Amino acid sequence: MSTISRRTFMLAATAMGAIALAGSIAYAELPALAKKDTYKVGFAQTESNNPWRIAQTNSMKSEAEKLGYQLVYTDAAGSAAKQVADVNSMIAQGVDVIFLAPREEKPLIPAVMAAKKAGIPVILLDRNVDQSLAKAGEDYVTFIGSDFIAEGKRVAEWLAKNANGKSKIIELEGTTGSSPANDRKKGFDEAIAAAGGFEILASQTGDFARDKGRQVAEALLQAHPDADIIYAHNDEMAIGAIAAIEAAGKVPGKDILVLSIDGGKEAVQAVIDGTIAVVVECNPRFGPKGFEIMQKYAAGEKIEPKVINDDKLYDSSNAAAELATAY
Ligand code: AHR
Repeated sequence: MSTISRRTFMLAATAMGAIALAGSIAYAELPALAKKDTYKVGFAQTESNNPWRIAQTNSMKSEAEKLGYQLVYTDAAGSAAKQVADVNSMIAQGVDVIFLAPREEKPLIPAVMAAKKAGIPVILLDRNVDQSLAKAGEDYVTFIGSDFIAEGKRVAEWLAKNANGKSKIIELEGTTGSSPANDRKKGFDEAIAAAGGFEILASQTGDFARDKGRQVAEALLQAHPDADIIYAHNDEMAIGAIAAIEAAGKVPGKDILVLSIDGGKEAVQAVIDGTIAVVVECNPRFGPKGFEIMQKYAAGEKIEPKVINDDKLYDSSNAAAELATAY
């Protein structure tokens, strides 16, 4: 290859983010991960205040244990600043690879970049970072998780078919600045506008938390007594909203439809009980897939920039049959 054509090739390959070499992929800008029998793996969790997070952590811990890998686990307790510090501490401890569930899209960028600079590959789990500031295949290996836009869209499409004349919506958003809050809002709001005949009366954050969701739902129900639908971005806020509806002297499932995302046992039981109308699952079982992707990366296999989990949908037609399989 002449100097010029080699240079052209290298530039093109760099732009693609990876160079194919003898059947394996050498990522142009990403730190490499050596193929070894065992690893010291970091998992930087966001918080542990709900069943979804606990199920995700348990899945990661049990898979690491099964493989005989050492897991360095941290819990940021709902603080993006602490999560950045947690990643820096993992870097100092010399982990081989970091699984990161970034609390918010922008504040975790410095953590991703610090790991890259230290030569430690990062795999994003369940939440994403701002795509204008960091990219899969360049700054981190891949994002593994649900399609949050599709989750919001599926809730809206279910509602469009099953609203039975109800139309006035209160939306309880997740943590401000997080990818599930941004994307579940986008997916739902766009699909509900396309369906026509609905009105979103108010949309406010409940921070993915049960009590905050209850408080926000209470205030919004007082401000909008004509609301007959509450769409919550997760189960915790949906369960908080049920308490708020009852406190307002109304019947969840009859006067006000509650729509949710996550699919924990308590919410699926609420579907059976009729207090929640529909739950789109957000699958928290990341361990098997996360470690499989990590091993493939170490083996030099091509990794897609996004690896999307399959999510179920629970309503009155299947909740009883599915309860046993919910997390
Ligand atoms: O990122 C996934 C979301 O985070 C889940 O819906 C929520 O329950 C969790 O805190």
